[in-house]
Amino acid sequence: MKVRKRKKSKGNIVLIGFMGVGKGRTARMLAEQTGKFAVDCDDLIESFANSKVKKIFAESGEPHFRKLERKIASWLEKQVHNTIISTGGGFYNVPNIRKIGTVVYLHSDFDKIVKAIKNHPNAKKKIKKRPLLQDLNAAKALFEERLPLYREVADIEITISGKSIEKIAKTICKKAGIK
Ligand code: S3P
Repeated sequence: MKVRKRKKSKGNIVLIGFMGVGKGRTARMLAEQTGKFAVDCDDLIESFANSKVKKIFAESGEPHFRKLERKIASWLEKQVHNTIISTGGGFYNVPNIRKIGTVVYLHSDFDKIVKAIKNHPNAKKKIKKRPLLQDLNAAKALFEERLPLYREVADIEITISGKSIEKIAKTICKKAGIK
């Protein structure tokens, strides 16, 4: 488990990690435990663009989606504090991520992530809505490419496999110094 000390004043927690690792669920549990609000970057993009992530990829392409991520990132940096922020799997790459808040990387092995998605009652829907999860070989390569980058950008890393969501959220609170 990595903990990097850095001075932070905005009070935000930014959850990063690969698709399907449980960033949204963890954010909601953290919100419940801390009394803070939780927001999700993909939800913000969808409401800003009045479109779904899948549709944005299909109609305007991935570069446009990345541009929207950067726009949301800049808004978060300027306007949002004391909030739990869950992000899409590629959000780690926005240039100002460290200025938004304490960055927490949720880690699990690729095979475990895929297994968890496949075992989910809503598996079909979960896979369908993620354009970058359609080809599992490509997704595995993406995971391997991103792993060192997630680690590089994170203040805190938590391995999630085998832990309950309550325990994961409590560990984040402890490591990030949230009461
Ligand atoms: C992406 C992850 C998705 C979503 C988009 C791109 C990525 O979010 O932002 O499909 O590049 O890894 P989740 O991580 O919530 O699946």
